[in-house]
Amino acid sequence: MYTSHPQDTEDTPTNLSANEHFQTVVARAVSRRGFLKSGLGLSAAVFLAGPLSACSSGEDLFRKPEKTSSLLGFEAIPISTEDTMTVAAGYTATVFAPWGTPLFAGAPAWKADGSDTAAAQARQVGDNHDGIHFFPINGSSTEGLLVMNHEYATVKDGTYAWLFGANGTEPWTADKADKAMNAHGVSVIHIARSGAGKWEIKLDSRYNRRITASTEIELTGPAAGTDLLKTRADPSGRRVLGTLNNCGNGWTPWNTYLTCEENFNTYFGTTSGSDTRDAAQKRYGLMPKGTEYRWEQFVDRFDYAKEANESNRFGWIVEIDPFDPGSTPKKRTALGRIKHENAAYALTADKHIVVYMGDDQRDDYIYKFISDGVYQEGSDNATLLDAGKLYVARFNDGAAAGDFMGTGEWILLSKAANATLAADGRFASQAEVLIYTRLAADAVGATKMDRPEWVSVHPTSGEVYVTLTNNDKRTKADAANPRAANIYGQILRWREAGADAAATTFEWDLFVLAGNPVKYANRNDLRSGSANITPDNTFNSPDGLGFDRAGRLWIQTDGKYSNTGEYEGQGNNQMLCADPASKEIRRFFVGPKECEVTGITFTPDSKTMFINVQHPGEKGNSHWPDGPASLPRSATVIITKNDGGVIGT
Ligand code: FEO
Ligand code: CA
Ligand code: CA
Repeated sequence: MYTSHPQDTEDTPTNLSANEHFQTVVARAVSRRGFLKSGLGLSAAVFLAGPLSACSSGEDLFRKPEKTSSLLGFEAIPISTEDTMTVAAGYTATVFAPWGTPLFAGAPAWKADGSDTAAAQARQVGDNHDGIHFFPINGSSTEGLLVMNHEYATVKDGTYAWLFGANGTEPWTADKADKAMNAHGVSVIHIARSGAGKWEIKLDSRYNRRITASTEIELTGPAAGTDLLKTRADPSGRRVLGTLNNCGNGWTPWNTYLTCEENFNTYFGTTSGSDTRDAAQKRYGLMPKGTEYRWEQFVDRFDYAKEANESNRFGWIVEIDPFDPGSTPKKRTALGRIKHENAAYALTADKHIVVYMGDDQRDDYIYKFISDGVYQEGSDNATLLDAGKLYVARFNDGAAAGDFMGTGEWILLSKAANATLAADGRFASQAEVLIYTRLAADAVGATKMDRPEWVSVHPTSGEVYVTLTNNDKRTKADAANPRAANIYGQILRWREAGADAAATTFEWDLFVLAGNPVKYANRNDLRSGSANITPDNTFNSPDGLGFDRAGRLWIQTDGKYSNTGEYEGQGNNQMLCADPASKEIRRFFVGPKECEVTGITFTPDSKTMFINVQHPGEKGNSHWPDGPASLPRSATVIITKNDGGVIGT
């Protein structure tokens, strides 16, 4: 979600703790090592040229990445500001399953004037596609279950932009609130490729499913059933209706889908006119007024003055078994309650499952969960995410030579084992540590980050990469650290000690500082980006992120698309591809106007790529994909190579 809403949320820090900010760590590291003040004429940006951990001499560090990557086989494409999508030469991009596409046999066709009812929307693909994953059927690369998130419904200037057509918000009715709720959630779509190479929805499949803001979901794990999760409608504290603001995603090796509840706070307001929020509700960003979605006007549970605990039942990671269409999705409380971006798994040396997670808000944190149980292939792993240890990251300077690198540690968020939390009366139990994860992380001194978005784990090295999308309202800018007002973002990576995801310490470095050498030609200016940023690949606000099986790093953007001023030469939001070793980055795909590019998955043969184009025309200037005079629609995009080869080669 690109956040231009006055009421939201990722750009507004709610973290008032005194914890150290990651930019402060970077600034100190730079300053301590003297690279900005040494007078050597060597910028810290130039220092980012090489793989720092591998550098044996200073000389290597000043090298720009060579265009010799054997991993990247395509020619980079230029920016675009057009209301169309463009992809690298030799590839084809095809629109698939846009918002409103019928998902079941007999489901109503989408009405192009936005007049579909709530009941129709419940049988159609939802809105604002985001995280996505392809689950092959019997290993097939031509048939599988495509599972995707529908993050939100676009609200512009206080009214729904397209969900009800051009001017359909008034009068505001219960059916409209219900339709908006049905546009949210997740779609499970059984798809197959025909002999002619065309992907189609199998409308009569038993697997097709919509999960919405009204679907019954079970709360599981340590916090389930505790008082803070009980409501009048659910005295058990274990049954909740719906999942909300499903942003990024993850998946497990036992073939389940993880959907991540991000800006859930934006759905909880009050019509009471009084501010009854407690400290935790403020820390999670609930606002003392009506919401832009206006559900609280018809559904009491979204008014926190009427049902104070309902918002505690959102902000979780939800596990869905797409192969069991009758199964109840599970909100896994052991993984903590934050504004979850995505969830990337790894296995420890002894097969415990690890889930890496970012909390997407300015000045919030990066987490990992390690299961108590071990993954056993072919066995029932259904409760593996219900018990384990939750950690939050602290990034330190470290003692190693080099720049923009350091060490870090994982701090255990345990009421029993962490003395700080044991002594903190705000948390009566481990359940409350999990429900108030942000407050617990504040208490133990986690490092404030520049809006953690997607995390992805390298398929062979286990190195973990995270997009830190931007932090444009950061106030501590100064001349010595021109990244203080970080409008471009960066990608950071870390290596767990002993190359084991179970480690509680790690080493980190920055992979790329996004920046704009078109606007800032002086490469000593950190706003020009690190040395692997050129006028040809400049971008801002990395967000979606994913490795393919060969280790190519795909980077998707959700940033400013004005193509002027600070963003001159950057065009529409896009997807780029990086070689983690050489650090070269090439632009592969550009989306239509005012969209973001998000979500990524492949067929097992890596010859079909699925991504999502979200919110084209969010400011009113797109008719993608249907053309002139049509409402713009979020859609999946299927990318194939014309010679039938592997994507990226
Ligand atoms: Fe839904 Fe942080 O993006
Ligand atoms: Ca995102
Ligand atoms: Ca974003």
